[in-house]
Amino acid sequence: MNRRRFLGAGFASAAAACGVGPTRSAVAPPPAALADDRVAPLAAVSRLVVERQDPLAGRCRYVADLGPRKVAQPIFVARRGESFDAVIENALPQPTTVHFHGLTLAEAQDGAGFDPIAPGARKRVRFEVKNRSGLYWFHPHPHGFTAEQVYGGLAGLLVVTDDDDEALDAALGLAPGNRLALAVADARVVGGAIRPYAPTAEDCLTGWLGNRALVNGELDAERVVAPGWARLQILNACNARGLLLGFRDTAAREGEQLIPFSLLGTDGGLLGAPREIDRAFLYTGERVDVAINLAGRRAVVAVSLEFDARHQAHGMPPRHHHPARDRYPALAAEAVCESAVRSDPGDRLPDGAELSLFTLHVGAAPARATPPLPSRLSGLPDAATGPQDAMRRLRLDFDERTGFLIDQTPYRLDETAFSVRRGTRETWEIRNSPISMPHPMHLHGFGFRVLRRQGTYGAARRFATESGGRFPTDLGVKDTVLLWPNETIWLAVDFALPEDAAFRGAQRYMFHCHNLEHEDGMMMRNFAVV
Ligand code: C2O
Ligand code: CU
Ligand code: CU
Repeated sequence: MNRRRFLGAGFASAAAACGVGPTRSAVAPPPAALADDRVAPLAAVSRLVVERQDPLAGRCRYVADLGPRKVAQPIFVARRGESFDAVIENALPQPTTVHFHGLTLAEAQDGAGFDPIAPGARKRVRFEVKNRSGLYWFHPHPHGFTAEQVYGGLAGLLVVTDDDDEALDAALGLAPGNRLALAVADARVVGGAIRPYAPTAEDCLTGWLGNRALVNGELDAERVVAPGWARLQILNACNARGLLLGFRDTAAREGEQLIPFSLLGTDGGLLGAPREIDRAFLYTGERVDVAINLAGRRAVVAVSLEFDARHQAHGMPPRHHHPARDRYPALAAEAVCESAVRSDPGDRLPDGAELSLFTLHVGAAPARATPPLPSRLSGLPDAATGPQDAMRRLRLDFDERTGFLIDQTPYRLDETAFSVRRGTRETWEIRNSPISMPHPMHLHGFGFRVLRRQGTYGAARRFATESGGRFPTDLGVKDTVLLWPNETIWLAVDFALPEDAAFRGAQRYMFHCHNLEHEDGMMMRNFAVV
């Protein structure tokens, strides 16, 4: 067996199947089940404007120009092999970038923050979608401004489809509207209004936490779906909050069981086979694809269940001075990490507290027969255990003087922590300090597989139900993986890059914590693939 197929994480394993990219005149229609006004074919976008809508609260949005129509806060859909070719216009008073989280892109298209777009400037970005079907997303990545801009509302979804994805919708017999793509964030809401971003030193330690869920930008989100299967692709778009996703029937009595659901996929697409669970951890930047059977139910609420988030780091991290911030105003005219030391506990629900996310109302449409779940979802192999080319060890630490660090080194834009030859397969051993916090670690450009976890304790331990001490969500292709305090994890990373001209020469990527206050607080490193 070809070793790339064995790992299964890269674009390479099915690259042959995608053929020639379509032209703008031949854009694949979005999945029929995904009936949402905001759905916009990625390949039809000619301009993407990033703008501030409300200077008082610092609320921002993306507006996609599709020629005949404009879509605000679009949900992009692309079939694997299709291309994006658009001008990105920055109408914010700050530099920005558009980073497509999870896609395999060359440095020039990755929007990682090496080359931000200045206020008032524009940039043409072109790339082909090479990744497997799945839920990806896009958000700003200008170092020092990322957390503020994402909280301001700049987090968009990209649904990538392919043959496996289409076959799954057909097998589930999804009614129109029964497939949902949802970005779940949390906001600080006081008196019905979203508070602007103004983190204190404490917020910079734990990350900025809100008190209410926002789903695709809406508070108290509700959707009406038909009886039968619903397929939900869910992103945790919070700055810092972990979600322990579960579903309850609104008619259920106190203490009644959660509704079981099936995990179909993770960050980088479908699992080989569905896995039945009744709750799943989803930290910031992570995605799940799940199927829930709504037959015989009237309404179901999605919640983040209570859990012990094990924030073990105490003491305040130092302030980080981002020189670039001196030159631009805040989105809502408040300072970053410098206001009062303590936050108002009323508008800040701790990580791990129960939070209700959204409600699904089951319509009275004639019940469809609920077909059985398919037993195979994709050709994804089990995680690689074969020989790797090299082992790389990384450590995550917290230090009151310097804050959160990767290998004892704070982020520098001009530093390259290490270089990897393209095509190399590495095992990464990442160790999180016991005196730390949960850190959702994200790798740009390359999907990876989780091989093993060790040292998991506390709330997380009971979810380590899979071989190697892994969680069910570790079974698929990942680009963001949670490390609990005290944990060590082993990942298989394949540094294969496409042969296209776009990828010629050394390409720089980033590896960072996706708690956005930690990311802006220097918990990030650059590496190069040469
Ligand atoms: Cu979701 Cu480096 O980003
Ligand atoms: Cu990313
Ligand atoms: Cu972190």
